[in-house]
Amino acid sequence: MEKLDAKTLISNSNTFRIADLGCATGPNTFFLIDDIIKSVETTLGSNSLKTTKPEFLVFFNDLPKNDFNTLFISLPQDRSYFAVGVPGSFHGRVLPESSVHMVVTMGATHWLSNVPKEVMDISSKAWNKGKVHYSDAPEEVVKAYEEQFGRDMEKFLEARAIEIVSGGLLVVGMCGIPKEMPFSNLADSIMYSSMADVLLQMQFEGLISEEQVETFNIPIYSASPEEVTVLVEKNGCFTVESMELMDPTAWLKRPMNVEDVQQWMVCIKATMGSLFINHFGDHLLNDIFDRLTAKLAGLTEKIESSYRKKVMLFFALKRK
Ligand SMILES: C[S@@+](CC[C@H](N)C(=O)[O-])C[C@H]1O[C@@H](n2cnc3c(N)ncnc32)[C@H](O)[C@@H]1O
Repeated sequence: MEKLDAKTLISNSNTFRIADLGCATGPNTFFLIDDIIKSVETTLGSNSLKTTKPEFLVFFNDLPKNDFNTLFISLPQDRSYFAVGVPGSFHGRVLPESSVHMVVTMGATHWLSNVPKEVMDISSKAWNKGKVHYSDAPEEVVKAYEEQFGRDMEKFLEARAIEIVSGGLLVVGMCGIPKEMPFSNLADSIMYSSMADVLLQMQFEGLISEEQVETFNIPIYSASPEEVTVLVEKNGCFTVESMELMDPTAWLKRPMNVEDVQQWMVCIKATMGSLFINHFGDHLLNDIFDRLTAKLAGLTEKIESSYRKKVMLFFALKRK
């Protein structure tokens, strides 16, 4: 809120407009929106000469296949804002020109628009044989993912530059990584290689085909602050107000145990489950995740040693 001049932004109207991109079905999005509204109200309350209370309009965006019915049914009854659902990919325009004062997106922009084509092309040097992610993969695979993220973030920033009013804020929280740190240093790397092991074992057992295994890749990319800064500068429409990496496990004071791993896999199943369903079918989802959880439960010490890293990237940009 230190970075947002809410009073000037709503001087021509009395409505403050917020968008949450990749909102899913709640409740995280509701907590986030509540926090923003309380902060804006506090800022306006202390500075505003206006006597009328500001009104809030919130655009909830996600991909069209998101369960918007659940989102709408779960909207807090006592909310202090009007709610709109906006289906569509944030890699393109989802809102009218200069229509929002603040855009937030949490845990969504590390999802690529698609797996880079060359990673699935058997004749390409970037063919990602025997793996499900660029972690520990040949340089060509890493480059293909990196370039896909660059193209996606370019489109994301271009669209937001049109939608956000001058002086408005874009706040992003996504998977990140310190510059120069190899992905193989992270706990997620252990998860991705365990996923590949589980799938290869299931192929060996005849439950899935070799082709299915070789064409399965997770379209997620962790960017460094420096990488994002270059893309923001290339776009040219925003100033960087803040850019930092945080450790999402800092709150966990004791060593990681089996229950933590199980909890972690519940989250991964919730966020990545649909990828597995689309590729391998509904009937194998539980089997895949049971095997993965069991495998990782035997690796808690290894995971603990690579867990405590700054892998959440947060940045705030102001529209020039
Ligand atoms: C891990 S969930 C995060 C949900 C919520 N923001 C939170 O913090 O709990 C990521 C969400 O981003 C959405 N998403 C991924 N790619 C997207 C895109 N290109 N456009 C819009 N939403 C997208 C997914 O559908 C999913 O609901």
